[in-house]
Amino acid sequence: MWGGRFSEGIDALMARFNSSFPFDRRMWDEDIRGSMAWARQLVHAGVITADECDALLAGLDTVRAEFAAGQFAAQDTDEDIHTAVERRLGEIAGSVAGKLHTGRSRNDQVATDIRLWMLGAVQRADHGLRAVQAALLNQAEVAGNALLPGYTHLQRAQPVLLAHWLLSHFWPFQRDRERLADCAKRTAVLPLGSGAIAGTPLAVDRAALAADLGMAAIAPNSIDAVSDRDFAVEFLSCAALIGVHLSRLAEDMVIYSSAEFGFVVLADAYSTGSSLMPQKKNPDSFELLRGKSGRLIGDLMALLTVLKGLPSAYDKDLQEDKEPLFDAADTLDLALPVAAGAVATARFRHDRMRAALDDAMLATDVADYLVERGVPFREAHRVVGGLVREAERRGVSLAALPVDMFRAAHPACADDLPHVFDFARSAAMRRVPGATAPEAVQAQMAQARRCLASHEAPADGR
Ligand code: ARG
Repeated sequence: MWGGRFSEGIDALMARFNSSFPFDRRMWDEDIRGSMAWARQLVHAGVITADECDALLAGLDTVRAEFAAGQFAAQDTDEDIHTAVERRLGEIAGSVAGKLHTGRSRNDQVATDIRLWMLGAVQRADHGLRAVQAALLNQAEVAGNALLPGYTHLQRAQPVLLAHWLLSHFWPFQRDRERLADCAKRTAVLPLGSGAIAGTPLAVDRAALAADLGMAAIAPNSIDAVSDRDFAVEFLSCAALIGVHLSRLAEDMVIYSSAEFGFVVLADAYSTGSSLMPQKKNPDSFELLRGKSGRLIGDLMALLTVLKGLPSAYDKDLQEDKEPLFDAADTLDLALPVAAGAVATARFRHDRMRAALDDAMLATDVADYLVERGVPFREAHRVVGGLVREAERRGVSLAALPVDMFRAAHPACADDLPHVFDFARSAAMRRVPGATAPEAVQAQMAQARRCLASHEAPADGR
């Protein structure tokens, strides 16, 4: 492909080191789409005739069919997907194949291919996220007004609706989808026409080329265009954050499925056993989801590190962009449907969650009771803190302290104080939008449903 100025062949290990075909072959469809669009522009630029273009398109169709059927016969000399397609096209279409690369470089070609490929990956990730969100939302609908101990610092804090907790994991994925859609906008920008660095000398219509490939805009600077991988960093950053969100959901599920909590029972289909201990049922689905965040974060770090300090325009280092990108996309392609399935099939034990609620979680409500009766919050906090300490000293629950003790602690405590010791009441008191009262959670659920109904699909590059 480039041997003209060389007198010696490439070292065998160097050839292996240099070759990206083993991993970039998966961009065959994008590479062929890009070449077809380029061939059409070569007619426009007067480089080839319409007949020659037809011959190129027919040949590229055949190459595409070979890849699609898994029958593409690679050769050792195929350095990357671009040279492989061109080599095979030459075998099929003859010498006209030698005209396809006119005015183009692998530098603008590969940048175009990755962008096209990534637009597909973004769309798959969006689908996957949507499925996880739908599973969380369905569980929230099923949960009704069941109560769950809400934890801060992993210490019992306040009662919340199970549905509220489930939806707390819905919104991070919504933000992930918004970030992906935003990243897709900057991905759907066309590098083709930038040549190696200076731009093509041919009179191609780059806007038409962009439209042909489903891109929304053309890259404004050829030097930047051949080395810009920001879109890939953005995708990897989205993927890393998705990994973090999955890992936090997973951590809750792992803890809640332990015998000590027992709030949730995972389906057998998303659990595995121990080869040694017959009684074990392990939450491997969620443990792996938690663990996958490590590689997703690693993929982002890998690409950032490759890019840092690169001189202008294309450098071969950029070939290292693809494996982290593919790895992250592959990881999401598998992790998101597993997360959706594991959430959808989990069974929440309302009885166990209810039993884990304890009166001390209503201490804030007692303070609120005093505040309603004109006591400054700081004073109320101190008074109730003393009562909690006393209950602890006596080894009884807060509600079990005699009403007289409350009255002695503060005269604002009246006979109706015991009404405060009601977990459902505590939740129902928190009615502002975003809070845990049943009506507020219903409104939140409606908002979540609207997010899933609106099809703001990212550009697909077709
Ligand atoms: N396989 C290369 C890559 O992935 C294609 C671009 C090669 N360009 C070059 N000037 N050698 O980056």
